Amino acid sequence: MKTVLTTSSDDAAEFIRRGGIVAFPTETVYGLGAAVFDEFAIERIFAAKQRPVDNPLIAHIADIKQIADLAVDINESAQLLMDTLFPGPLTVVVRKSLRVPLIATAGLDTIGIRQPQFELARRFLLACGTPVVAPSANLSGRPSPTTWQAVAEDLDGRIDCILQSVECEIGIESTVVDCTADVPRVLRSGSMTLERLREILPEIEIAHAVNTTSPKSPGMRHRHYSPRARVVLVDDPNEIIGEPDFAYIGLRPPSNRRGYERVCASIEEYAHALFEFFRESDRLGVQTIHCERVEETGLGVALMDRLLRAAER
Ligand code: TXA
Ligand code: MG
Repeated sequence: MKTVLTTSSDDAAEFIRRGGIVAFPTETVYGLGAAVFDEFAIERIFAAKQRPVDNPLIAHIADIKQIADLAVDINESAQLLMDTLFPGPLTVVVRKSLRVPLIATAGLDTIGIRQPQFELARRFLLACGTPVVAPSANLSGRPSPTTWQAVAEDLDGRIDCILQSVECEIGIESTVVDCTADVPRVLRSGSMTLERLREILPEIEIAHAVNTTSPKSPGMRHRHYSPRARVVLVDDPNEIIGEPDFAYIGLRPPSNRRGYERVCASIEEYAHALFEFFRESDRLGVQTIHCERVEETGLGVALMDRLLRAAER
């Protein structure tokens, strides 16, 4: 299959309307989309990504009016989150409507809904004329793509189209909040910070995601965000000694400078750069990537979650 590259949101949306699968940019990472009511196209997403079929997809909307086609029984906490934080890097899990095919939600009776903020994503979704289910546009287990080139690296020849754009602004996926239980719960930390969520829902809880076996967040059991290189977390970049083929990313410069390195000015810059740094390290054939640990506040919570998962083997 030939993968068409385009910068036109209308041309990309045309593929969705004809039953195709299309990678598109958002403010977090690139997604791989299909029309939500098109079971055949959704099957192709799982095949193209080699994604385990027990991992549900997020439905992306252009307009909050589309929620009525996707969900039922929206409770007060879900409504409040959507009213306050949409559009943005937040996914709200609610009860799904019967119309949504089970393949989209991996058999669950719930569905994650997100309204992206990025202008080109909004134009694309609007032109699709339907909600679009999309996981991140990487091969399963690989770091999420933050550039269209990274999408092509994993999926060229396996998908119909890539909507080309600039590098994703945030670089870490959305925060997933389950609102179907009495107390709302963060299933996956992400770029909508816990501090911001607590301003709206002070009672919100955290599902401890690393190593969880909870059936509530199936995707978190799978291997994630992994470069081919070994990932090692360090408290102090000066601990890194004398390895020839290392890469380093963090906030402080290592004293022992000899590898491929990226010193970031802020946690935001670190988060923005991380997945592409992993991919570039693999392209360079690096054996070991040292990553500085960060304080777990603000975006640092999601960044540490991704670092810990990448370091798991
Ligand atoms: O920022 C993002 O969220 C990106 C962009 C493309 O929107 N998407 C993304 O999708 O990261 P994906 O499929 O790579 O990750 C979705 C996560 C998975 O851990 C999945 O298990 C969880 O959300 N999820 C989706 N629907 C769910 C549901 N109904 N119940 C529980 N967890 C759900
Ligand atoms: Mg993903």
